[in-house]
Amino acid sequence: NIGKSTNILWHDCPIGQPERQKLLGQKGCVIWITGLSGSGKSTVACALSRELHYRGHHTYVLDGDNLRHGLNRDLSFKAEDRTENIRRVGEVAKLFADAGTICIASLISPYRRDRDACRALLPDSRFIEVFMDLPLELCEARDPKGLYKLARTGKIKGFTGVDDPYESPVNSEALAPESVQYCLGPAYSN
Ligand code: PPS
Repeated sequence: NIGKSTNILWHDCPIGQPERQKLLGQKGCVIWITGLSGSGKSTVACALSRELHYRGHHTYVLDGDNLRHGLNRDLSFKAEDRTENIRRVGEVAKLFADAGTICIASLISPYRRDRDACRALLPDSRFIEVFMDLPLELCEARDPKGLYKLARTGKIKGFTGVDDPYESPVNSEALAPESVQYCLGPAYSN
């Protein structure tokens, strides 16, 4: 249904992004965390949110798993639904940033073009892509939800990294491995 709305006009409000930012004392932005299942996206997103919160910043985490309980409950894991998932979350993240919030989005977001489309919704400095660059073997060894095991035994089809693609970022704003280790603890130290 994308692109089917017609005869619609933009309505501006007198209170805009500058006014909201001034009141909050911060600039809104999107920190987009991408990576394989089990790479620690949600852990890092929540650790970052907590850290920023206690430093006095307004944050909000948009987590792929959680959003699929509500906003995106109608979407499957086939390619076109993953694309629509990322499109919706990109739009929501943009609204949070516009409201002045530091929005931390944590989704597999396996396709580069979908992530780039989210990036394109915001000015450069307001979209920070973080790649959880952990090898598949390590994610699979952790298997926190037991999903890799189900995928390897054919009980889940189209699982990212097993029988579905993941396109690594080429231009992410990077997260130092030490920071990942700091956030996730000793399980990641080898
Ligand atoms: S995506 O690809 O961005 O649309 O995925 P996302 O919305 O982030 O949801 C990922 C979580 O869904 C669970 N799950 C699967 N992941 C990948 N492939 C398949 N087929 C699948 N089925 C269920 C899994 O718990 C993912 O959570 P994380 O936190 O990434 O492990």
